Amino acid sequence: MSGEGDLPPPRALRSHGRIGVTASAKPRDLMEEPLVAKGAWRARIITLFPDAFPGTLGLSLTGKALDMGLWALEAIDLRGFGIGKHRNVDDTPAGGGAGMVLRADVVDAALARASVGTPPERGRWPVVYLSPRGRPFDQATAQRWAAADGITLLCGRFEGVDQRVLDHWGVEEVSLGDFVLTGGEIAAQAMIDATVRLIPGVLGNHASTEEESFSDGLLEHPQYTRPAEWEGRGIPPVLMSGNHAEIARWRRAERLALTAARRPDLLKDRG
Ligand SMILES: C[S@@+](CC[C@H](N)C(=O)[O-])C[C@H]1O[C@@H](n2cnc3c(N)ncnc32)[C@H](O)[C@@H]1O
Repeated sequence: MSGEGDLPPPRALRSHGRIGVTASAKPRDLMEEPLVAKGAWRARIITLFPDAFPGTLGLSLTGKALDMGLWALEAIDLRGFGIGKHRNVDDTPAGGGAGMVLRADVVDAALARASVGTPPERGRWPVVYLSPRGRPFDQATAQRWAAADGITLLCGRFEGVDQRVLDHWGVEEVSLGDFVLTGGEIAAQAMIDATVRLIPGVLGNHASTEEESFSDGLLEHPQYTRPAEWEGRGIPPVLMSGNHAEIARWRRAERLALTAARRPDLLKDRG
Protein backbone atom coordinates (compact mmCIF):
# COMPACT_ATOMS: atom_id res chain seq x y z
CA MET A 1 0.00 0.00 0.00
CA SER A 2 1.19 3.48 -0.65
CA GLY A 3 2.15 5.71 2.21
CA GLU A 4 1.77 9.36 3.09
CA GLY A 5 4.73 10.18 0.87
CA ASP A 6 2.58 9.35 -2.14
CA LEU A 7 -0.04 11.96 -1.38
CA PRO A 8 -1.29 13.55 -4.59
CA PRO A 9 -1.17 17.21 -5.41
CA PRO A 10 -4.06 19.11 -3.75
CA ARG A 11 -5.91 19.33 -7.05
CA ALA A 12 -6.67 15.61 -6.73
CA LEU A 13 -9.20 16.27 -4.02
CA ARG A 14 -12.44 18.21 -3.89
CA SER A 15 -14.44 18.61 -0.74
CA HIS A 16 -18.14 19.39 -0.41
CA GLY A 17 -20.16 20.35 2.61
CA ARG A 18 -19.88 23.05 5.16
CA ILE A 19 -16.95 21.41 6.84
CA GLY A 20 -14.44 19.25 5.07
CA VAL A 21 -11.68 16.95 6.13
CA THR A 22 -9.02 16.52 3.56
CA ALA A 23 -5.80 14.98 4.68
CA SER A 24 -3.18 17.13 3.10
CA ALA A 25 0.52 17.59 3.45
CA LYS A 26 -0.10 21.33 3.50
CA PRO A 27 -1.90 23.44 6.10
CA ARG A 28 -5.43 24.08 4.98
CA ASP A 29 -6.77 27.49 4.05
CA LEU A 30 -9.77 27.66 6.35
CA MET A 31 -11.61 30.02 4.02
CA GLU A 32 -11.30 27.58 1.13
CA GLU A 33 -11.53 24.27 2.97
CA PRO A 34 -14.57 24.17 5.20
CA LEU A 35 -14.42 22.00 8.33
CA VAL A 36 -16.52 18.94 8.98
CA ALA A 37 -18.75 18.63 12.04
CA LYS A 38 -17.21 16.18 14.48
CA GLY A 39 -18.71 12.75 13.99
CA ALA A 40 -20.45 13.64 10.74
CA TRP A 41 -20.85 10.75 8.30
CA ARG A 42 -18.43 11.05 5.39
CA ALA A 43 -18.29 9.67 1.87
CA ARG A 44 -14.95 9.55 0.08
CA ILE A 45 -15.36 8.86 -3.60
CA ILE A 46 -12.49 7.85 -5.85
CA THR A 47 -13.40 8.86 -9.38
CA LEU A 48 -12.00 10.03 -12.70
CA PHE A 49 -14.86 12.54 -12.76
CA PRO A 50 -14.85 14.52 -9.49
CA ASP A 51 -16.97 17.20 -11.17
CA ALA A 52 -19.84 14.70 -11.19
CA PHE A 53 -20.10 15.29 -7.41
CA PRO A 54 -22.09 16.28 -5.45
CA GLY A 55 -24.42 16.14 -8.49
CA THR A 56 -27.95 15.30 -7.39
CA LEU A 57 -26.68 14.84 -3.83
CA GLY A 58 -26.25 18.62 -3.68
CA LEU A 59 -29.99 19.15 -4.24
CA SER A 60 -32.98 19.22 -1.91
CA LEU A 61 -32.73 17.56 1.50
CA THR A 62 -29.41 15.77 0.95
CA GLY A 63 -27.93 19.04 -0.36
CA LYS A 64 -29.21 21.04 2.62
CA ALA A 65 -27.83 18.44 4.99
CA LEU A 66 -24.50 18.61 3.16
CA ASP A 67 -24.44 22.40 3.55
CA MET A 68 -25.32 22.04 7.22
CA GLY A 69 -22.43 19.64 7.78
CA LEU A 70 -24.67 16.70 8.75
CA TRP A 71 -22.60 14.67 6.30
CA ALA A 72 -19.59 15.38 4.12
CA LEU A 73 -18.44 14.43 0.67
CA GLU A 74 -14.91 14.25 -0.66
CA ALA A 75 -14.30 13.49 -4.30
CA ILE A 76 -10.79 12.14 -4.84
CA ASP A 77 -9.57 12.57 -8.41
CA LEU A 78 -8.05 9.29 -9.58
CA ARG A 79 -6.22 11.15 -12.34
CA GLY A 80 -4.11 12.86 -9.67
CA PHE A 81 -2.50 9.47 -8.96
CA GLY A 82 -1.82 8.71 -12.64
CA ILE A 83 1.59 7.71 -13.92
CA GLY A 84 3.95 9.95 -15.88
CA LYS A 85 3.47 13.20 -17.71
CA HIS A 86 0.05 12.17 -18.98
CA ARG A 87 -1.05 10.78 -15.63
CA ASN A 88 -2.08 7.46 -17.12
CA VAL A 89 -4.48 5.51 -14.96
CA ASP A 90 -5.21 2.52 -17.18
CA ASP A 91 -3.62 -0.06 -19.47
CA THR A 92 -4.64 -2.86 -21.81
CA PRO A 93 -6.09 -6.06 -20.29
CA ALA A 94 -3.67 -8.89 -19.61
CA GLY A 95 -4.55 -11.77 -21.91
CA GLY A 96 -5.91 -9.41 -24.56
CA GLY A 97 -9.40 -8.23 -25.31
CA ALA A 98 -11.19 -4.94 -25.76
CA GLY A 99 -11.01 -1.90 -23.52
CA MET A 100 -8.73 -0.76 -20.75
CA VAL A 101 -8.28 -1.69 -17.09
CA LEU A 102 -7.57 0.69 -14.20
CA ARG A 103 -4.06 0.00 -12.92
CA ALA A 104 -3.52 -1.62 -9.52
CA ASP A 105 -0.72 0.78 -8.52
CA VAL A 106 -2.79 3.86 -9.40
CA VAL A 107 -5.90 2.64 -7.59
CA ASP A 108 -3.75 1.56 -4.62
CA ALA A 109 -2.39 5.09 -4.21
CA ALA A 110 -5.93 6.51 -4.33
CA LEU A 111 -7.20 3.97 -1.79
CA ALA A 112 -4.25 4.80 0.46
CA ARG A 113 -5.16 8.48 0.22
CA ALA A 114 -8.81 7.74 0.94
CA SER A 115 -7.88 5.68 4.01
CA VAL A 116 -6.04 8.54 5.74
CA GLY A 117 -7.66 9.13 9.14
CA THR A 118 -10.27 6.38 8.73
CA PRO A 119 -10.79 3.55 11.22
CA PRO A 120 -9.28 0.22 10.05
CA GLU A 121 -12.41 -1.80 10.93
CA ARG A 122 -14.45 -2.31 7.77
CA GLY A 123 -17.63 -2.32 9.85
CA ARG A 124 -16.91 1.28 10.81
CA TRP A 125 -15.67 2.32 7.38
CA PRO A 126 -16.60 0.06 4.45
CA VAL A 127 -14.35 0.20 1.38
CA VAL A 128 -16.48 -0.51 -1.68
CA TYR A 129 -15.94 -0.96 -5.40
CA LEU A 130 -19.08 -0.17 -7.42
CA SER A 131 -19.35 -3.15 -9.73
CA PRO A 132 -22.02 -5.03 -11.70
CA ARG A 133 -20.42 -8.22 -10.36
CA GLY A 134 -21.05 -7.15 -6.77
CA ARG A 135 -23.70 -8.10 -4.25
CA PRO A 136 -26.89 -6.18 -5.07
CA PHE A 137 -27.32 -2.96 -3.06
CA ASP A 138 -30.43 -2.92 -0.86
CA GLN A 139 -32.00 -1.08 2.08
CA ALA A 140 -30.20 -3.29 4.60
CA THR A 141 -26.88 -2.26 3.04
CA ALA A 142 -27.89 1.41 3.24
CA GLN A 143 -28.76 0.92 6.93
CA ARG A 144 -25.43 -0.79 7.60
CA TRP A 145 -23.49 1.97 5.85
CA ALA A 146 -25.45 4.74 7.59
CA ALA A 147 -24.46 3.24 10.95
CA ALA A 148 -20.75 3.41 10.01
CA ASP A 149 -18.51 6.47 10.43
CA GLY A 150 -18.22 6.85 6.68
CA ILE A 151 -17.41 5.02 3.49
CA THR A 152 -14.95 4.92 0.61
CA LEU A 153 -16.47 4.25 -2.80
CA LEU A 154 -14.30 3.40 -5.79
CA CYS A 155 -15.91 4.24 -9.13
CA GLY A 156 -14.67 2.09 -11.98
CA ARG A 157 -14.50 3.01 -15.67
CA PHE A 158 -13.59 1.17 -18.86
CA GLU A 159 -13.42 -2.62 -18.27
CA GLY A 160 -13.00 -2.19 -14.53
CA VAL A 161 -10.17 -2.44 -12.00
CA ASP A 162 -7.14 -4.75 -11.76
CA GLN A 163 -8.30 -7.58 -9.49
CA ARG A 164 -5.08 -7.59 -7.44
CA VAL A 165 -5.74 -4.21 -5.83
CA LEU A 166 -9.30 -5.23 -4.91
CA ASP A 167 -7.99 -8.42 -3.27
CA HIS A 168 -5.11 -6.59 -1.59
CA TRP A 169 -7.44 -4.08 0.10
CA GLY A 170 -10.24 -6.60 0.79
CA VAL A 171 -12.63 -4.36 -1.11
CA GLU A 172 -16.36 -5.17 -0.96
CA GLU A 173 -18.04 -5.19 -4.40
CA VAL A 174 -21.58 -3.81 -4.55
CA SER A 175 -23.87 -3.53 -7.58
CA LEU A 176 -26.66 -1.08 -8.29
CA GLY A 177 -28.47 -3.76 -10.28
CA ASP A 178 -28.24 -6.31 -13.04
CA PHE A 179 -27.20 -3.92 -15.81
CA VAL A 180 -23.95 -2.33 -16.93
CA LEU A 181 -23.32 1.39 -16.47
CA THR A 182 -20.49 3.26 -18.16
CA GLY A 183 -18.97 4.18 -14.82
CA GLY A 184 -19.54 3.91 -11.08
CA GLU A 185 -20.46 7.56 -10.47
CA ILE A 186 -24.23 7.22 -10.91
CA ALA A 187 -24.23 4.08 -8.76
CA ALA A 188 -22.23 5.90 -6.08
CA GLN A 189 -24.70 8.78 -6.02
CA ALA A 190 -27.68 6.45 -5.80
CA MET A 191 -26.15 4.49 -2.93
CA ILE A 192 -25.01 7.58 -1.04
CA ASP A 193 -28.47 9.11 -1.42
CA ALA A 194 -30.13 5.99 0.01
CA THR A 195 -27.62 5.96 2.88
CA VAL A 196 -27.52 9.63 3.76
CA ARG A 197 -31.30 9.94 4.09
CA LEU A 198 -31.11 7.43 6.96
CA ILE A 199 -28.74 9.66 8.94
CA PRO A 200 -30.63 11.33 11.80
CA GLY A 201 -31.61 14.92 10.94
CA VAL A 202 -31.10 14.67 7.18
CA LEU A 203 -34.80 14.33 6.34
CA GLY A 204 -35.87 16.58 9.21
CA ASN A 205 -39.65 16.48 9.51
CA HIS A 206 -40.12 16.05 5.79
CA ALA A 207 -40.53 12.32 5.80
CA SER A 208 -40.27 9.26 7.93
CA THR A 209 -38.06 6.43 6.74
CA GLU A 210 -39.90 3.99 8.99
CA GLU A 211 -42.94 3.55 6.77
CA GLU A 212 -41.12 3.52 3.47
CA SER A 213 -40.70 0.64 1.08
CA PHE A 214 -38.27 -2.03 2.34
CA SER A 215 -37.97 -0.56 5.84
CA ASP A 216 -39.89 -3.55 7.23
CA GLY A 217 -39.56 -5.76 4.17
CA LEU A 218 -42.76 -4.58 2.45
CA LEU A 219 -43.41 -2.18 -0.41
CA GLU A 220 -45.19 1.06 0.45
CA HIS A 221 -48.97 1.48 0.11
CA PRO A 222 -50.35 3.77 -2.65
CA GLN A 223 -50.26 7.50 -1.90
CA TYR A 224 -52.91 10.15 -2.81
CA THR A 225 -53.29 13.90 -2.45
CA ARG A 226 -55.56 16.71 -3.71
CA PRO A 227 -57.64 17.06 -5.80
CA ALA A 228 -60.13 14.62 -4.25
CA GLU A 229 -61.34 13.74 -7.75
CA TRP A 230 -59.05 13.63 -10.77
CA GLU A 231 -59.95 12.41 -14.27
CA GLY A 232 -62.93 10.57 -12.78
CA ARG A 233 -60.74 8.81 -10.20
CA GLY A 234 -61.44 9.31 -6.51
CA ILE A 235 -59.35 8.77 -3.40
CA PRO A 236 -60.17 5.56 -1.45
CA PRO A 237 -62.90 6.73 1.01
CA VAL A 238 -61.12 5.24 4.05
CA LEU A 239 -58.33 7.80 3.60
CA MET A 240 -60.87 10.61 3.90
CA SER A 241 -62.59 9.05 6.94
CA GLY A 242 -60.31 10.47 9.61
CA ASN A 243 -60.34 7.05 11.29
CA HIS A 244 -56.65 6.48 11.93
CA ALA A 245 -56.97 2.86 12.99
CA GLU A 246 -58.92 2.06 9.81
CA ILE A 247 -56.40 3.97 7.70
CA ALA A 248 -53.51 2.05 9.28
CA ARG A 249 -55.33 -1.27 8.62
CA TRP A 250 -56.02 -0.29 4.99
CA ARG A 251 -52.44 0.75 4.42
CA ARG A 252 -51.06 -2.46 5.84
CA ALA A 253 -53.42 -4.55 3.69
CA GLU A 254 -52.37 -2.56 0.61
CA ARG A 255 -48.71 -3.01 1.43
CA LEU A 256 -49.11 -6.76 1.75
CA ALA A 257 -51.20 -7.02 -1.45
CA LEU A 258 -48.78 -4.88 -3.46
CA THR A 259 -45.77 -6.81 -2.18
CA ALA A 260 -47.42 -10.16 -2.94
CA ALA A 261 -48.26 -8.99 -6.47
CA ARG A 262 -44.98 -7.30 -7.35
CA ARG A 263 -42.28 -8.72 -5.11
CA PRO A 264 -43.35 -12.10 -3.70
CA ASP A 265 -39.64 -12.78 -3.03
CA LEU A 266 -39.79 -10.20 -0.21
CA LEU A 267 -42.60 -12.08 1.53
CA LYS A 268 -40.66 -15.36 1.27
CA ASP A 269 -37.75 -13.68 3.04
CA ARG A 270 -40.11 -12.89 5.94
CA GLY A 271 -40.75 -16.64 6.45
C1 LIG B 1 -18.42 -0.55 -18.30
S1 LIG B 1 -18.40 -0.92 -16.61
C2 LIG B 1 -17.38 -2.35 -16.55
C3 LIG B 1 -18.16 -3.61 -16.66
C4 LIG B 1 -17.28 -4.87 -16.50
N1 LIG B 1 -16.42 -5.03 -17.64
C5 LIG B 1 -18.19 -6.09 -16.35
O1 LIG B 1 -18.57 -6.67 -17.36
O2 LIG B 1 -18.54 -6.45 -15.21
C6 LIG B 1 -17.39 0.35 -15.93
C7 LIG B 1 -17.62 0.64 -14.47
O3 LIG B 1 -18.95 1.05 -14.27
C8 LIG B 1 -19.35 0.72 -12.96
N2 LIG B 1 -20.61 -0.04 -13.05
C9 LIG B 1 -21.16 -0.53 -14.17
N3 LIG B 1 -22.30 -1.16 -13.91
C10 LIG B 1 -22.51 -1.07 -12.59
C11 LIG B 1 -23.52 -1.55 -11.71
N4 LIG B 1 -24.56 -2.25 -12.14
N5 LIG B 1 -23.41 -1.27 -10.40
C12 LIG B 1 -22.35 -0.56 -9.92
N6 LIG B 1 -21.35 -0.09 -10.72
C13 LIG B 1 -21.42 -0.34 -12.02
C14 LIG B 1 -18.23 -0.09 -12.34
O4 LIG B 1 -17.51 0.75 -11.45
C15 LIG B 1 -17.41 -0.50 -13.53
O5 LIG B 1 -16.05 -0.69 -13.22
